[in-house]
Amino acid sequence: MKLVFATNNTHKLEEVRAMLSDSIEIVSLKEIGCSEDIPETAETMEGNALLKVRYIKEHYGYDCFADDSGLEVEVLNNTPGVYSARYSGIPHDAEANMNKLLQEMEGKANRKGRFRSVIALLLNGEEYLFDGIVNGQITKEKRGENGFGYDPVFIPDDYTQTFAELGDHIKNQISHRARAVAKLTAFLSTNSI
Ligand code: IMP
Repeated sequence: MKLVFATNNTHKLEEVRAMLSDSIEIVSLKEIGCSEDIPETAETMEGNALLKVRYIKEHYGYDCFADDSGLEVEVLNNTPGVYSARYSGIPHDAEANMNKLLQEMEGKANRKGRFRSVIALLLNGEEYLFDGIVNGQITKEKRGENGFGYDPVFIPDDYTQTFAELGDHIKNQISHRARAVAKLTAFLSTNSI
């Protein structure tokens, strides 16, 4: 089956393409002629993921799925969370976001954090939500070149390297998005048209 993935983030698009089985073909926003920024004004990841799929259905007519994700840091009251992409005040500036995070965490002994992903699916007039979490630790400095966003400052539990050092192959097996996508895939394989 073909399904639109409502994201403008090419890293996410490639990650999810690599995770899905051949039976699900992902169509990008570019391919349906959507180049505008979809509003993400909700206060939760669930809310934002739903806003994205409803926007695409309303303006382009396609069933689709969307992910909203972020980093939740325990000692910072689970922020930046839904505001992860614009934590520094400059939207989508990963360097500035990581610098702000490392600054906020200076001197903090508790380095526990988790990435969380919520996927919304709009299919045949029904809405569904799937989530995924990966727990880990926030480093004291950036390490590694792969991935995107906060990958250079996040070490998943049971590993010693950051997501940016581990690379896509390992990240795509254990990440928050991989876990949410696995639930989406399981659902689609039993419920698709
Ligand atoms: P979204 O595009 O609104 O879901 O924002 C997600 C933001 O959370 C991204 O811009 C990143 O800052 C962060 N983020 C989400 N997933 C990841 C990931 O897999 N690695 C690193 N950062 C991530």
